Amino acid sequence: MRNQAFVLVCIVVFGVVGTCHGGGLKKNYYADKCRDAEEIIKNATEQRGCDASILLNSTANNTAEKDAVPNQTLSRFDAIDDIKAEVEKKCPNVVSCADVLALAARDAVSFKFQRPLWEVLTGRRDGTVSQISEVLANIPSPSSNFTTLVRNFANHSLNVRDLVVLSGAHTIGVGHCNAFSNRLYNFTGKGDQDPSLNATYAAFLKTQCQSLSDNTTFVPMDPISVLAFDSNYYVTLKQNRGLFQSDAALLTNNGSSNIVNQLLNQNKFFAEFARSIKKMGAIGVLTGNAGEIRKKCFVVN
Ligand code: HEM
Ligand SMILES: *[C@@H]1O[C@H](CO)[C@@H](O)[C@H](O)[C@H]1NC(C)=O
Ligand SMILES: *[C@@H]1O[C@H](CO)[C@@H](O)[C@H](O)[C@H]1NC(C)=O
Ligand SMILES: *[C@@H]1O[C@H](CO)[C@@H](O)[C@H](O)[C@H]1NC(C)=O
Ligand SMILES: *[C@@H]1O[C@H](CO)[C@@H](O)[C@H](O)[C@H]1NC(C)=O
Ligand SMILES: *[C@@H]1O[C@H](CO)[C@@H](O)[C@H](O)[C@H]1NC(C)=O
Ligand SMILES: *[C@@H]1O[C@H](CO)[C@@H](O)[C@H](O)[C@H]1NC(C)=O
Ligand SMILES: *[C@@H]1O[C@H](CO)[C@@H](O)[C@H](O)[C@H]1NC(C)=O
Ligand SMILES: *[C@@H]1O[C@H](CO)[C@@H](O)[C@H](O)[C@H]1NC(C)=O
Ligand SMILES: *[C@@H]1O[C@H](CO)[C@@H](O)[C@H](O)[C@H]1NC(C)=O
Ligand SMILES: *[C@@H]1O[C@H](CO)[C@@H](O)[C@H](O)[C@H]1NC(C)=O
Repeated sequence: MRNQAFVLVCIVVFGVVGTCHGGGLKKNYYADKCRDAEEIIKNATEQRGCDASILLNSTANNTAEKDAVPNQTLSRFDAIDDIKAEVEKKCPNVVSCADVLALAARDAVSFKFQRPLWEVLTGRRDGTVSQISEVLANIPSPSSNFTTLVRNFANHSLNVRDLVVLSGAHTIGVGHCNAFSNRLYNFTGKGDQDPSLNATYAAFLKTQCQSLSDNTTFVPMDPISVLAFDSNYYVTLKQNRGLFQSDAALLTNNGSSNIVNQLLNQNKFFAEFARSIKKMGAIGVLTGNAGEIRKKCFVVN
């Protein structure tokens, strides 16, 4: 649940649809519209990822975004629908799926800490379209190099520091073999291995991912502490055990590598993550009268 919600945030950022008004979000937007909204979401999240277009189901003419990303990651959508249903019971047609997603991701990660790890501004509205092309155009590939990552983030008004900080989300969750096994078996098309990948770790990964075509096996992205939201992602990176090329890329630039060193400090990581994810959560949001409040997150009204 924690991982899933987080990925949704990840996708929400890069899969943003529509106009970029940016502002318009505020703290506790629902205070006078649905007083308990945030608490209902928190409670529901504890019990069981911007607009929420990824939640739309595919239709015959429109392969929805949720089918564009690795199955396993997003097939557990029901959790978000359940949380939304809880909110609908109390305040029908008031709280957007995009806000439910943003709050649930925060609450899922924060649960263990018994305090919210970052502030989530609300007032997002949901998009009315959901297209696979938008995801594919916006989500960076795990084989991206530093230059491409920086450009991609810059396209969303995120800087190098945000890139390094937000990549720290890979402290939780898993990656499927097909997202990185080129690094093990065919890095430059000559049956070779990525020299920047820790050789000992590569040998281990080969025992897990036995071929280039394996798309079902997955491994932790942060093997030091896969389930914990902490700064061990950066420790893993410095051991040259970053799973994706996009992770390893953060060490290929001096400025970026210097930021990695700073984020080994967990308090610093938490503080910076709170800042960057808030920034990310304001990108391309629909507010005011734009879009709609979806009744069910997986289908437009
Ligand atoms: C820097 C560019 C990024 C790239 C190239 C990238 C790529 C990926 C890939 C390929 C996966 C594995 C999916 C799978 O194989 O199942 C993944 C998982 C994940 N990503 Fe990212 N990501 C990026 C940034 C982010 C950001 C900004 C966040 C959140 C702030 C994030 C959060 C996650 C989480 C939590 C998972 C684990 C999913 C799970 O365990 O089911 N990622 N990412
Ligand atoms: C949330 O859960 C707490 C603890 O179980 C409970 O006291 C509170 O009434 C719940 N809030 C809502 C809005 O359901
Ligand atoms: C959407 O997908 C969910 C499962 O992900 C399914 O239960 C639901 O019936 C689908 N809704 C529509 C309108 O196709
Ligand atoms: C697909 O598009 C055609 C033509 O635009 C339309 O007639 C049909 O109803 C659409 N089907 C679905 C399932 O949306
Ligand atoms: C992908 O989803 C389909 C249908 O939900 C399921 O049968 C299949 O096992 C899933 N594949 C993976 C790798 O999770
Ligand atoms: C980074 O990747 C892009 C796109 O694949 C490529 O055009 C560029 O040459 C690469 N840059 C470096 C420094 O390898
Ligand atoms: C950045 O946006 C421009 C214009 O939309 C696009 O052509 C380019 O491919 C994007 N770059 C990346 C790395 O996403
Ligand atoms: C490795 O890559 C090369 C060049 O893309 C390709 O011709 C070859 O078939 C690949 N090897 C395997 C085992 O897929
Ligand atoms: C995994 O690979 C198999 C065989 O190449 C293919 O049929 C299947 O659709 C793939 N599944 C995913 C989730 O990409
Ligand atoms: C490779 O990873 C191991 C931990 O598994 C670590 O002790 C070692 O220092 C790493 N080697 C390099 C070159 O980063
Ligand atoms: C990066 O840092 C190293 C060592 O600090 C230095 O030797 C190198 O010239 C720097 N590279 C760039 C591009 O600044």
